[in-house]
Amino acid sequence: MSPSLNTDAKKTLLRKIPHGVFICGVAEGELVNGFTASWVTQGSFEPPLVVMAVRADSTSNGIIQRTGRFSLNVLAADQKDLAAVFFKPQKGIGGRFDAAPYSLGELGLPLLNDALGGVECELVGQVAHGDHTVFVGEVKTALLNRDGVALELSATGWTYGG
Ligand SMILES: Cc1cc2nc3c(=O)[nH]c(=O)nc-3n(C[C@H](O)[C@H](O)[C@H](O)COP(=O)(O)O)c2cc1C
Repeated sequence: MSPSLNTDAKKTLLRKIPHGVFICGVAEGELVNGFTASWVTQGSFEPPLVVMAVRADSTSNGIIQRTGRFSLNVLAADQKDLAAVFFKPQKGIGGRFDAAPYSLGELGLPLLNDALGGVECELVGQVAHGDHTVFVGEVKTALLNRDGVALELSATGWTYGG
């Protein structure tokens, strides 16, 4: 007999997992794109790994699959407005960066000048099962612009999870 899932309990409990709010950056040829990601965590000390789940139908998912790399920008606690720019629909791919100056890192990935900092990762594994793909990236570069308190999902009033 298969177990029965209490979907209300599942939703309540999964929404209690603490999350940060990050901007994931991707690049393909001349194109750059970025999106708000909260399903992010560290996965290993050595080598340094990060784990991020990305919507299977998003523009950035395809770019990560094809290029095998992504960046993660850590936002400061007062950068909620910037996070909102990066999950709203955009006129053209890359248009969200009009709101946020960036530089390209050593791996050619967008690093936001105004974020606390960012890391560039090479894809080392993935699980494609369900509506998000779980990507595992090895951190290859890290740029700290300034130290400070990072934006947390719980402080925004938004939910992403359940
Ligand atoms: C609070 C919040 C957190 C989000 N976290 C994620 C996430 O972890 N992974 C993801 O794929 N999308 C996440 N999204 C949705 C993406 O930001 C959104 O789908 C975006 O438009 C994708 O951009 P793209 O299609 O240009 O790649 C989140 C949205 C919000 C509002």
